Amino acid sequence: MSQSYIEQRTERTKWFLQDRFGMFIHWGLYAIPARGEWVRNAERISNEDYQVYFDEFNPERYDPKAWAKAAKAAGMKYAVLTAKHHDGFCLFDSQLTDYKSTNTKSGRDLVREFLDAFREEGLKVGLYYSLLDWHHPDYPAYGDQIHPMRENEEYKRDPERFVNYLNYMHGQVKELLTGYGKLDIMWFDFSYGELKGEAWRATELMEMIRSIQPHIIVDNRLEASGEEGGSIYTDNPSLYSGDFASPEQIIPPSGITDEAGNSIPWEACITLNNNWGYSAADLTYKSAKTVIRKLVECVSKNGNLLLNVGPDAKGEIPRESLEILEEVGQWIRRNGDSIYGCGEAGLTKPEWGRYTRKGNKLYAHLFEESVGPINLVGLAGRVKHARLLSDGAEVFVSRPWNASLYQEDAFFNFARPEHSTYPLPDERDTVVEITLIEE
Ligand code: GLC
Repeated sequence: MSQSYIEQRTERTKWFLQDRFGMFIHWGLYAIPARGEWVRNAERISNEDYQVYFDEFNPERYDPKAWAKAAKAAGMKYAVLTAKHHDGFCLFDSQLTDYKSTNTKSGRDLVREFLDAFREEGLKVGLYYSLLDWHHPDYPAYGDQIHPMRENEEYKRDPERFVNYLNYMHGQVKELLTGYGKLDIMWFDFSYGELKGEAWRATELMEMIRSIQPHIIVDNRLEASGEEGGSIYTDNPSLYSGDFASPEQIIPPSGITDEAGNSIPWEACITLNNNWGYSAADLTYKSAKTVIRKLVECVSKNGNLLLNVGPDAKGEIPRESLEILEEVGQWIRRNGDSIYGCGEAGLTKPEWGRYTRKGNKLYAHLFEESVGPINLVGLAGRVKHARLLSDGAEVFVSRPWNASLYQEDAFFNFARPEHSTYPLPDERDTVVEITLIEE
């Protein structure tokens, strides 16, 4: 089965690998304490003490159309929203719990509104669903590694009752898949310790998912990832190994391949500051320049970037995040051809930056200024012509007198004379589109 599974995966992930850039949205009750989405874990907050946030939750400025417009303008092609995070609060009108947004002051099905708005902007849509649940009475609590009540003996639970939670979790996934139209991504989070794979009844879950929405793509967190591995990294993946790997807060040093060296679809999920959920005091935002370069880095290694925003309790994406997204969008509007549908170039990483590639279009992403003509290692005789991607202006390909020793390489420069040095037109990332002579 493994070969055909990989073929199906390749088929299912085509759009995903084409689209390259998505928005992750972490939003829930934790936006009120505003100390990140793990606040219950970090501060060992009980259900009772967390209830105050449920009672007051009323994001009056939630305008998913504005979110969708911001994502689209940033060049993002898909978005994934937390339908339920570890705190168990559901942003959708589940029939299986009262712990949901429709029972708060807001009274709205936030998931449905998100899906409608993003689809309307032509973006693909996904839902994040936490396998952990710190609110459900049958989820392991006392003695668990992570649960907020892990040290509270009053939360000793009969392990037999876990089956109720599993039924609940499967039931909610089914609700999302049957009641909300076509979903493009199902993003589960996460496995740990014994709670992985069949402990979640993962084969049954995946069979249900595929029987309802066969095209949907699923991340790899029904299995343990990280140090413990997961079968997506092998050439014999299980049914629940998922369609893409999901490195978190790191870009894999050399992309992700299976045992046979074939590229595996992957998506790095990265925060804009250092928190997923809204964190009022966390102002450690990455610059637009960093985001642009990291997106390029992912694509140059055949990966995607899922960039997170954490809307506040009123329903707004933080101003700092919007400003970064806007600037990224300005760059991408003129340079998107070097991102969408592109991947690894099959060339050594250049000194001045990175390459991405699509067929005979090679994109040189210049991060660092060179002295004199700019060197393309080993590409002598391979370059048809070169243009600045942002405006189509001619870039001069030649071998000026000071590059005469390097006969294997090609050289270009932005102006004449080509032996001189010129500042980079865009210091964040100047993209030169190099048309290669077909081999
Ligand atoms: C994690 C965290 C989490 C976040 C997620 C994103 O494993 O538990 O809060 O949602 O990763 O990848």
